[in-house]
Amino acid sequence: MRKITFWLVLSVLIFQAIAQENSDMDVFISNLMSEMTLQEKIGQLNQVAPHGWVVTGSSVNEDIEKKVIAGQVGGMLNSMNPDMTRKIQELAITKSPSKIPIIFGLDVIHGFKTIFPIPFALSCSWNLNRIEQSARIAATEASASGFCWTFSPMVDISRDPRWGRVAEGAGEDPWWGAKVAEAMVKGYQGNDLSDERTILACIKHFAIYGAAEAGRDYNTIDMSRLSMYQDYFPPYKAGVEAGAGSVMTSFNVVDRIPATGNRWLMTNVLRDQWGFEGFVVTDYRANNEMSVHGLGDLKTISALSLNAGVDMDMVGEGFLTTLESSVSEGTVKIEDIDKACRRILEAKYKLGLFNDPYKYIDSIRMQNEVFSDSHLKAAREIAQQTVVLLKNDKNILPLKKQGRIALIGPLADSKSDMLGSWAGAGSRENVSTLKHGLETVGGANVTVAFAKGAEPTDDPFLLAASQNPWQRRRDGQTEEVKPSADSLLAEALEICRDADVIIASVGELASWSGEAASRTDITIPQTQRRLMKALKETGKRVVLVISSGRPLDLTWENENFDAIVMAWQGGTQGGLALADVLFGDYNPSAKTTMTFPRSVGQIPIYYSQLNTGRPANPFNKFSSKYIDSPNEPLFPFGYGLSYTTFEYGNVSLSDSLVRGDVTLTASVNVTNTGERAGEEVVQLYLADPVARVSRPLKELKGFEKVLLEPGETKTVSFTINTNDLKYYDSELNYDWDAGEFVFYIGPNSSDGKEARVMWEK
Ligand code: BGC
Repeated sequence: MRKITFWLVLSVLIFQAIAQENSDMDVFISNLMSEMTLQEKIGQLNQVAPHGWVVTGSSVNEDIEKKVIAGQVGGMLNSMNPDMTRKIQELAITKSPSKIPIIFGLDVIHGFKTIFPIPFALSCSWNLNRIEQSARIAATEASASGFCWTFSPMVDISRDPRWGRVAEGAGEDPWWGAKVAEAMVKGYQGNDLSDERTILACIKHFAIYGAAEAGRDYNTIDMSRLSMYQDYFPPYKAGVEAGAGSVMTSFNVVDRIPATGNRWLMTNVLRDQWGFEGFVVTDYRANNEMSVHGLGDLKTISALSLNAGVDMDMVGEGFLTTLESSVSEGTVKIEDIDKACRRILEAKYKLGLFNDPYKYIDSIRMQNEVFSDSHLKAAREIAQQTVVLLKNDKNILPLKKQGRIALIGPLADSKSDMLGSWAGAGSRENVSTLKHGLETVGGANVTVAFAKGAEPTDDPFLLAASQNPWQRRRDGQTEEVKPSADSLLAEALEICRDADVIIASVGELASWSGEAASRTDITIPQTQRRLMKALKETGKRVVLVISSGRPLDLTWENENFDAIVMAWQGGTQGGLALADVLFGDYNPSAKTTMTFPRSVGQIPIYYSQLNTGRPANPFNKFSSKYIDSPNEPLFPFGYGLSYTTFEYGNVSLSDSLVRGDVTLTASVNVTNTGERAGEEVVQLYLADPVARVSRPLKELKGFEKVLLEPGETKTVSFTINTNDLKYYDSELNYDWDAGEFVFYIGPNSSDGKEARVMWEK
């Protein structure tokens, strides 16, 4: 009883403290705004980008300093030089009319200087604590270097690996995507935004950007509301519920209205239904792009987006240049500008910028914390957990720490490709390539001989896309004179001659995925395939280590090689982490969070598909299948191997008949049947065979990552309640039906044992 009273009193006190803080904030901002002119308020809604950094849209802003002094800038992105940031901030708080500090943002996507594996790879770790930790470290480094706001996490569900931005998200599943979104927001924002080491998160790209038709970036989307709510919205909603301070609009149309001008999305869904209280920023000139979508001139679309519920205009200056006259013409209300301005000021207040506008520029912290030993250690450990072992026939892996390794391939020693796309401020400093990793981890008894073997590609389109805007430019790389394909190959084969094992480091350059990097063909290019063929013909053991920003079509590789390791792009410590896995110092535990297709013809392909009325039947021509390919993917969602093996017992339910709002437990015994300790991601799926709308064949509802010693058995239990049974019907009611439910527990979305329950209302 005493305990309960204690907690009650504590909760009341915390609640009162928050209420007091909010009312202090309200008073402060109301006072401030009462002194501001309409122009100054509009100035707060304007975000500018300087020259000299990655430009993803069609322009940057001019005369930034003048605009700051005139009170025409509320936010700035890509201010990469802390001295410049300090100078701009100083102008804002000393020379601008209202002396309001500027909020500085950056795409801190998978780390700031210490780069972690690409977000998609992080999601394959199934380790939420580690994902949160990566965001926390990113925030720690960025917040010392001038930034208090990141445009992350990207939580767009993606079921089409042609889309380059799958690299930035958490894969195909809404339940998992929601968990990752929450972990990332917690990591960036912590419990207290005013802490100098936390930064504001931004949930993007709202909404459904990942469903671009044909996987072509920025493309049109036409989707039912049911699919939005059921399959695409959960991660955005989870990010909002986790307290994300900002949301970014997406470039695409939703119901034929660009998201940036879509009031239903930005106000009805985001604010009214989900209770979002932060501010909304457009994507890079997404406001202006509404004109290209055919929605009118800059004044019309700027009014449209402000009225839709957008608060800040990134780079386009449509708000800055047109809102005042829209107010005088009556198409925009002052109250709506006030609301937008207030939301932005609230974020600045919560970050503590009014108390100390320079708190996020801290050269001492920068020196001590950026690339600190503990950050590099975490980057290595986290990267280990993202490596997916796809195939390991004849137990080729792990490798012994002795003998001669021929390391062949165009990605084996490329630092910028190890960092991946959107590596933000990450430089090549401290980057460990696979070559470096093998040499370091292998120790004295291992010799590593390296040859490039082939160019990444000779395809003119891919060649044109091979400039990595995030790294190559700053590294000052110059084009080297290229040896012929034959001499590259000959050199590689020479090295292989006395090798005990060959490691082929192949796949995609970092610039082949990420923004504006969609591919129609997701195989490994011919130049590299020729190399792989030649390596196979040596008759030696070959391990394929594949780098990429997306699941690739690996049908040919799977037919021809015994060992396939998906390395993705592992970040600063990627090479060491990969070597840890290849030598067995870390037993791989990652599982893919996107389905690997057999060919692009199967795309979109994802595990939680609906049934058709004619499920595939090899004996029935008129069933839902291809005549030239199986329906099944090459590797299903949730798939990944270990150096040990796990056996699953039968699924047991705490009851086979339950009623109403109760909790059910589903358990399974998992045994490590191999000879090494290993972690297994045990996955729980649910099917609802009879409902008011057609329901997916199965949906992920839980997972647990368990560590098992050789021979050890653990019982893994999941609790399920009626919330897990709910779904959206065609009227968008969110509820569950009484009836039979099937639970599957297994190592991936295709294999699992099942148990059934009758759940009555
Ligand atoms: C991207 C966003 C990014 C923004 C700012 C846009 O092109 O779509 O994800 O945050 O640029 O760099």
